[in-house]
Amino acid sequence: LGLDAELYYVRNDLVSHYALSFNLLVPSETNFLHFTWHAKSKVEYKLGFQVDNFVAMDMPQVNISAQGEVPRTLSVFRVELSCTGKVDSEVMILMQLNLTVTSSKNFTVLNFKRRKMCYKKLEEVKTSALDKNTSRTIYDPVHAAPTTSTRVFYISVGVCCAVIFLVAIILAVLHLHSMKRIELDDSISASSSSQGLSQPSTQTTQYLRADTPNNATPITSSSGYPTLRIEKNDLRSVTLLEAKAKVKDIAISRERITLKDVLQEGTFGRIFHGILIDEKDPNKEKQAFVKTVKDVDQASEIQVTMMLTESCKLRGLHHRNLLPITHVCIEEGEKPMVILPYMNWGNLKLFLRQCKLVEANNPQAISQQDLVHMAIQIACGMSYLARREVIHKDLAARNCVIDDTLQVKITDNALSRDLFPMDYHCLGDNENRPVRWMALESLVNNEFSSASDVWAFGVTLWELMTLGQTPYVDIDPFEMAAYLKDGYRIAQPINCPDELFAVMACCWALDPEERPKFQQLVQCLTEFHAALGAYV
Ligand SMILES: *[C@@H]1O[C@H](CO)[C@@H](O)[C@H](O)[C@H]1NC(C)=O
Ligand SMILES: *[C@@H]1O[C@H](CO)[C@@H](O)[C@H](O)[C@H]1NC(C)=O
Ligand SMILES: *[C@@H]1O[C@H](CO)[C@@H](O)[C@H](O)[C@H]1NC(C)=O
Ligand SMILES: *[C@@H]1O[C@H](CO)[C@@H](O)[C@H](O)[C@H]1NC(C)=O
Repeated sequence: LGLDAELYYVRNDLVSHYALSFNLLVPSETNFLHFTWHAKSKVEYKLGFQVDNFVAMDMPQVNISAQGEVPRTLSVFRVELSCTGKVDSEVMILMQLNLTVTSSKNFTVLNFKRRKMCYKKLEEVKTSALDKNTSRTIYDPVHAAPTTSTRVFYISVGVCCAVIFLVAIILAVLHLHSMKRIELDDSISASSSSQGLSQPSTQTTQYLRADTPNNATPITSSSGYPTLRIEKNDLRSVTLLEAKAKVKDIAISRERITLKDVLQEGTFGRIFHGILIDEKDPNKEKQAFVKTVKDVDQASEIQVTMMLTESCKLRGLHHRNLLPITHVCIEEGEKPMVILPYMNWGNLKLFLRQCKLVEANNPQAISQQDLVHMAIQIACGMSYLARREVIHKDLAARNCVIDDTLQVKITDNALSRDLFPMDYHCLGDNENRPVRWMALESLVNNEFSSASDVWAFGVTLWELMTLGQTPYVDIDPFEMAAYLKDGYRIAQPINCPDELFAVMACCWALDPEERPKFQQLVQCLTEFHAALGAYV
């Protein structure tokens, strides 16, 4: 039905009375309903139907017997709801399923309510008229003007052909053009990768590092920072199959996930508040974030691959300020899903913006001290990442989450491009980058390091202090590199203490070596936080 909801009648042996009293509308063009069911122990059933208007609808037909035993494996049965076409009317349908659990002698009646609009069939009247009248009288008007109608026909066919021919020529020209451009792009990326990457295998190392940080070997540059250089299209070089193979060990069955509300929605992706059922004890449930695509067919393979690959950025890491992926669901024919632990206040950027709205009426909604405390937590998480030599590459408020105790966790950037399209820009190539959060060396040379993460931390701190404003909002993304090179930075937010702005400004030093380390940032912010407490 295109609904973003799942309706369970019985789940974990509990009957949902809400679902049973829900009267679901069946679209008038839908003639079949499919029910999937299974039982864990021996359960006998009796199935019956009631229809309130037999003139409009025939008795529903079903392809299982009216009584028997509920199958032990997931099975499907089909109910046919076909209108008679005699009258226009809304029909109420009641499907009654009586279940007897043999072991406990428990008898349960499940009532499934449906309603459907039935319409009078108009074609039937016409065809019967045709039958009885001679076809000649009906077709005569057409025969009366055969020449004009055929002429019109030939002219329109001719015009259509001409249009198709023109379109084909235009497409061919465009195609040739784009082929040339791809060739150009290839040569550019080849030359840029030759500066940084000695072998393509370095790129694989980079993935290994994010996935298995424990046994990754650091690539240490002369500056003492582990510098990573990334090829432009590193994500696109992974196929969907490879991405799936990498998460196979944390794959779970779709039945363990229940989707509740949609928290965020983009063009092709969605984040749900979901429920994850414990593997061993089905009565134990955990809340979760579920990242998924809207439609299996609409989301391209590249988008799904990116979602899976980017979700693995923090995989296997344990720190109280990090929120890594815990599971995936990649069952055939299901929407691919990525599961993360739940944080009840959700996305940090959206939370900050919410605070901004509230602040208009209530200036005490969130204190500066709270914001600095959030910054400390982010710096702690990043410090841990830097020690593990994991480079985040997309630190920003949008990639953090928060709960009602103001605990902040850094998470991966899967789906962020889709959910926050204004924060990413294409600079001529096909890659969407968080331009306004990127250090100059990342923008210009595609170089990422913990020092470039420090830069992004400075911007994130600015986002905290401005309650979720967009940095460099007036600057054209194409001008960013030149602007930064000229020494311009984002201005000091109103109400932001000088000491705090000084911390941000340090993060934006052009020379990566001059930027503070995350450990120093934690220390300095902690001192500032304490001082704030002393004044209050
Ligand atoms: C189910 O049980 C109810 C109550 O005992 C009974 O009225 C109804 O006819 C039964 N339905 C079927 C399909 O057997
Ligand atoms: C009933 O029909 C559905 C759909 O056509 C099919 O998937 C299912 O296997 C059928 N069930 C039985 C018991 O024949
Ligand atoms: C049968 O099971 C349902 C669902 O668990 C429960 O609500 C009901 O009380 C049980 N009835 C009897 C007679 O045990
Ligand atoms: C047959 O056509 C005539 C007019 O041509 C119409 O009056 C009559 O109702 C038609 N018969 C039927 C059965 O529809």
